Amino acid sequence: MTAMTETRVRVVEVVRESDVVRSLRLIREDGGPLGPYRAGAHIDVVGPTGVLRQYSLCNPPEEADSLTIAVKREASSRGGSAALHEVAVGSSLTIGAPRNLLSVADDADRHLLVAGGIGITPLLSMAYELHRRGADFALHYVARSRAEAAFVELLEHRVPFAARVHLHLGTPRAERAGALSAAVAELSASSHVYTCGPQGFMDAVRAAAAPVVGAGHVHVEAFVAAAVDSSADRSFTVELDTGEEFEIPADRTILSVLEENDVEVFTSCTEGVCGSCVSGLLAGEADHRDSCIPASERGERIALCVSRARSDRLVIELS
Ligand code: FES
Repeated sequence: MTAMTETRVRVVEVVRESDVVRSLRLIREDGGPLGPYRAGAHIDVVGPTGVLRQYSLCNPPEEADSLTIAVKREASSRGGSAALHEVAVGSSLTIGAPRNLLSVADDADRHLLVAGGIGITPLLSMAYELHRRGADFALHYVARSRAEAAFVELLEHRVPFAARVHLHLGTPRAERAGALSAAVAELSASSHVYTCGPQGFMDAVRAAAAPVVGAGHVHVEAFVAAAVDSSADRSFTVELDTGEEFEIPADRTILSVLEENDVEVFTSCTEGVCGSCVSGLLAGEADHRDSCIPASERGERIALCVSRARSDRLVIELS
């Protein structure tokens, strides 16, 4: 079952941020407030074709009246991003409540934000929040070219933290790596690093930053599900905190077995990316296959749509 807290919104502004990225500013149809939200959040959006996708929020988080999402038109779009590129001012959409996979650490001496491509969107909201807090931070943004980058004019001239923005547009890979090393060299074990972009890009940021700040201080937001080898999968038992037990066959997911048995689970992406189905792990050892649960929380949470068990039994508390 797919479920979300639904809010009807109207598009009040459409901005062409690049050749392939449009931002949409949304207000509630009933006139009520939409914000503020926690920096780094994303929302479910049901577009005109009924396709549900997640998009990061990228307006200043303290704004109360509206939310802004940035939508990249994906070449392989099956109706999600392509349809949202057709909406105009006045169109109605349905959105869910903001959810966070990334959020700003409270106790850092310095924050480094590293965005690749459309990964700029969640980091933009975090930069607004860090600026509001008066925190020490830098935002590095890597894109293949100026034409393909989003929000360049905004980042160069209209954000109040433009002096903290470093653009790497069309910069050769070796030069980029040098800039990343220089940025990491300014960090300490009390610093936090946040990255969002293609998987290989985030892996490189993690590899560069983890030796300095520690793996637990590198925060990653993935938009794409990780590839998984399922050839050695085996069956296991799931016990819910209600006492019900289910056998999960080697070729089924926990989610599919629970749904078949009319157990209600919140879902959206079903690829381990969005965090909707993440539930409490009370006992047992999980085989984590998601891209959304931070390393520090993996002992106590599990994504039911993709993750499996290393132990014979898992005890799960549904959210
Ligand atoms: S439904 Fe998105 S992570 Fe499970």
